[in-house]
Amino acid sequence: MNGRVALVTGGARGIGRAIALKLASLGADVAVLDAGALETTEQTAAEIRALGVKACAVRCDITDADQVAAAVKQVKDELGGVDILVNNAGITRDKLALRMSPEDFDAVINVNLKGTFLMIRALYADFMRKRYGRIVNIASIAGLMGNAGQANYAASKAGVVGLTKTIARELASRGVTCNAVAPGFIETPMTANMNQDALEAASKTIPVGRMGKPEDVAAAVAFLVGDDAGYITGAVLNVDGGFFMR
Ligand code: NAI
Repeated sequence: MNGRVALVTGGARGIGRAIALKLASLGADVAVLDAGALETTEQTAAEIRALGVKACAVRCDITDADQVAAAVKQVKDELGGVDILVNNAGITRDKLALRMSPEDFDAVINVNLKGTFLMIRALYADFMRKRYGRIVNIASIAGLMGNAGQANYAASKAGVVGLTKTIARELASRGVTCNAVAPGFIETPMTANMNQDALEAASKTIPVGRMGKPEDVAAAVAFLVGDDAGYITGAVLNVDGGFFMR
């Protein structure tokens, strides 16, 4: 991936950080975009630079179209354009639908679905003009099979799948691919906040026999954004240890 520039949202920690480091290890320059403290995002950027490629850290809330536009401009100024977009930033606000407030619903849809759309929209014309681009959206098996307590999250991730297939169709003739990766249960700060009893019970039913690691997801993303995956678009690749088989 030498000479390519990747932008990873939510790249400061967890799965996004693993993706950013993986793409950097393959030679890409990487923009790490995150809404969290710039210090944490800078730390990840420093780890990337230590691999011998360029990196920049950008503070941006992807739900805000103005911040997204400013962030994309900053990345283009610092790294010279974007070839690979990984929409990884996401949040949960789990509750049974009975107790889920409209605000809980909107907050999750705004980050996971609208934020993903805003990022794609901000780079859409550039990818078309270049006649090259790789987009990977991080969905979830919750969006494919549903999950009690995650009406907002599962709906947002199902939406990401529909968005992925639509963008894939719109940009296929321009040399741009758009795919989704649907992780199962992955060990990150996000799952550390979940009900650990429920998580342990679910883990026991994973055919591979363990929870996933951020690096398992990063490997799938690296394949889909690589030159060997140019004929794969509109696909949803599950990385879940066999938890959800269709
Ligand atoms: P995490 O909570 O550890 O990291 C998410 C990152 O996104 C954080 O650095 C956070 O600051 C950033 N972020 C949140 N809202 C943002 C916003 N509005 N703008 C910019 N950045 C924002 O989460 P984790 O586990 O690494 O998840 C990454 C992605 O993988 C998410 O889309 C999540 O839904 C998805 N996923 C995770 C699974 C898991 O088991 N951990 C399973 C399936 C999907």
